[in-house]
Amino acid sequence: MPENHEDWGFSTRALHVGQGPDPETGAVVQPIHMATTYAQQGVGRHKGFEYSRTGNPTRNALEECLAALEGAKHCLAFASGLGAETTLMLLLNPGDHVVYMEDVYGGTFRLFDKVLKRFGMEFSAIDASDLDVVERSMTSRTRMLWLESPTNPLLRVVDIDAVSEIAHSHGAMVCVDNTFATPYLQQPLHLGADVVVHSATKYIGGHSDVVGGAVMTNRDDLEKQLRFHQNAVGAVPSPFDCWLLLRGVKTLALRVERQSENAMAIANSLARHSAVKRVYYPGFETNAQRAVAAKQMRMFGGMVSFEVADEATALRTLERLKIFALAESLGAVESLAEHPARMTHASIPAAERARAGVGDGLIRLSVGVEDVGDLIADLERALS
Ligand SMILES: Cc1ncc(COP(=O)(O)O)c(C=O)c1O
Repeated sequence: MPENHEDWGFSTRALHVGQGPDPETGAVVQPIHMATTYAQQGVGRHKGFEYSRTGNPTRNALEECLAALEGAKHCLAFASGLGAETTLMLLLNPGDHVVYMEDVYGGTFRLFDKVLKRFGMEFSAIDASDLDVVERSMTSRTRMLWLESPTNPLLRVVDIDAVSEIAHSHGAMVCVDNTFATPYLQQPLHLGADVVVHSATKYIGGHSDVVGGAVMTNRDDLEKQLRFHQNAVGAVPSPFDCWLLLRGVKTLALRVERQSENAMAIANSLARHSAVKRVYYPGFETNAQRAVAAKQMRMFGGMVSFEVADEATALRTLERLKIFALAESLGAVESLAEHPARMTHASIPAAERARAGVGDGLIRLSVGVEDVGDLIADLERALS
């Protein structure tokens, strides 16, 4: 691999970092190293690998590539987004306080509320798009501010630069779940965040065929602790999954550009529809946070949410869609639609959901790369 990849554009890095032709065979695609253990020349003398949970060549290739895409010094790959999140959170201690954006992914909320609270960590949900609220939420025990931007499912935008400054002035680190934006649209480490996490299951993999996760950071101290925990906790991805993620990420920029264009067209069409009460899309001129989104994102992404009259209308609309599959997850080439209150966010108690504004009439779309006219026609038919 050439050494000057910092100068390369995003797609050149996606195709080539960590993945030069195989020195043994010249194969242009990264081999899948399935071996679980590696022969040593003498005790402790080896070629960099001992045991595959601790280190694996295919995983190394993926980690190098994802680090380069996120503009990070370090990347650690995991078996799922939640595996990545759990391993990261295990760097904290009982008594530590975490402040998080209130409409985070339901599984992140469940990890905080049902698992980590049992180990003595404390959590406060806030609206991190309001800088005064962020300032007031910090205590002397706050170790981490956890953000999603755009958020899930209301696509609210947080000024990562501004909130990072506040968190750092209180000695807290900033973690951004960058799953929705992808490293192509937004690079939180350049905006002041200390850590980025991804559900690589989504846009990075991009084809609904692999579950994976990643943590990126520029901080050597965090990388050292994370590397220890990656091995000690063991939530590592299989070599085959690493290979699938490497294969998927090659087309990330192409896919996300098309998905963002399609999503903008769909958001505009929904906004004109009489059955639609409200559309959530960060790129809308009417969106109060559009300027922040435009400042920190290259395009506005492939996720669109919208509200219809009530739950019955939402469920009927979802069942009538033909091209959009009614399914959880997001970020793949095919379009998906879901009902957050009953599906992705069902693990959040109804009162919390209502407080965060996730209503029963809300539908979330993950817009794929199909022909946009077909997607718009599908939605119009289902809403009629
Ligand atoms: C924003 C976000 N973060 C994290 C996760 C968890 O990732 P995984 O399903 O790969 O464990 C998800 C899953 O939907 C997600 O949408």
